[in-house]
Amino acid sequence: MPQPASQTPHPARRAALRLMLGVMDEQRMISDLTAQPWFHEYDAPDRARGTRLALEALRGMDRADRVLKPLLRKAPPLEVHNILRLGLIEMAALGEAPHGVVNDMVAAAGRGKRTQAYKGMVNAVLRRAQEAADGKWGKMPVPRLPKWLRGPLMDAYGNGPMMAMESAHLKGAPLDVTAKADASAVADALNGKLLPTGSIRLTAPGQVSTLPGYESGDWWVQDAAAALPVQILAPKPGEEIADLCAAPGGKTMQLASAGANVTAVDASEHRLGRVAENLGRTGLAAQIEVADVLSFSGGPFDAVLLDAPCSATGTIRRHPDLPHARDGHGISELIALQIKMIDRAVKLLKPGGRLLYCTCSLLPDEGEVQVEEALERHPILTADRTALDLAGIDPSWVTEEGGLRLRPDYWSADGGMDGFYIACLRHTG
Ligand SMILES: C[S@@+](CC[C@H](N)C(=O)[O-])C[C@H]1O[C@@H](n2cnc3c(N)ncnc32)[C@H](O)[C@@H]1O
Repeated sequence: MPQPASQTPHPARRAALRLMLGVMDEQRMISDLTAQPWFHEYDAPDRARGTRLALEALRGMDRADRVLKPLLRKAPPLEVHNILRLGLIEMAALGEAPHGVVNDMVAAAGRGKRTQAYKGMVNAVLRRAQEAADGKWGKMPVPRLPKWLRGPLMDAYGNGPMMAMESAHLKGAPLDVTAKADASAVADALNGKLLPTGSIRLTAPGQVSTLPGYESGDWWVQDAAAALPVQILAPKPGEEIADLCAAPGGKTMQLASAGANVTAVDASEHRLGRVAENLGRTGLAAQIEVADVLSFSGGPFDAVLLDAPCSATGTIRRHPDLPHARDGHGISELIALQIKMIDRAVKLLKPGGRLLYCTCSLLPDEGEVQVEEALERHPILTADRTALDLAGIDPSWVTEEGGLRLRPDYWSADGGMDGFYIACLRHTG
């Protein structure tokens, strides 16, 4: 088989391969890797395309491996395997012309000491893989989540919902935005769809910062599910509200735009910088406090919103790197932290106040179980089910203990939503 002439691979492909290696070898998330100085040595268009390519390769990796496995006598080094995976996904899933992709992937192999010897193999295997996948890619089994996550989710939801959630992960996510004031006007300006819960959905947005109304702060990016906690909390003008774990500030902006006096608390000064930037852009105000929630002592507040740190397993549609970068370690520590945060949040409430607890996790241990146990530990709290009675919310999503379970396969015909758990707990004192 003729071997293509060596060349320099496209910088976006080099960036993508480096990101894939960072996720799979160093267990780092793409959002962390793209903040590193090395990544900023690439031009902005290559950074954007490289990130897109890496995310699509991680999303479709299970399918790529199914095609590649019979063509490989033994598993090659990870760098070579990733070259094959990216090349195949570009051809089979993204419709790139095989000639250019194979040339570039052979060149990518030629650049590394550990990969040089595999140039011929990359050339041969990619050509055969492209033929093997031709016309079949879309009909292949939906990629499965890794065992550490699939196991507990199967226990919680069963096979049908599990498969529906995995299909939703494969489809990816549209871009949702929240309007500062007039959602219909923003939907018109962006040519987006106004969802029943008031978020605006865009299917082919392009670069966010160039869209109408971004500079003037008429809206901000926020998944429709992530916008629901504040709608359920229903802040009133003049209420004193603590937004615990506030950065980057999506919920802070919702609370402030409803006229509440918001104290935005986060342990990360760096991330609070993004809250300040977002407030500046949207012309909204909040008091910002760098503090650990466990030692924060303001208030008392009419309401406390606790968007606790969690496994983020509800966001896999938008972060297909997560199942590859994580292995389930650290979740029990997060659960323990969530318990302490809930107990701290209860102490910050005025009698009669509301505690809105939410996580972007699909694991009941970070949602349903947390609230069930919080209600047992704090008999002064009661779950406010009426708060969940909102347009667009299916009553069957309400859970036994009185929270709301959102899954990525909900609203599937309209593009899905992030997985979330939300409960509004009322202090009955
Ligand atoms: C899920 S994000 C919050 C998203 C945010 N509420 C929004 O809507 O944009 C979790 C946040 O918790 C913060 N965090 C983690 N541990 C914390 C702690 N002990 N005290 C305060 N903030 C903490 C992280 O810095 C991170 O910004």
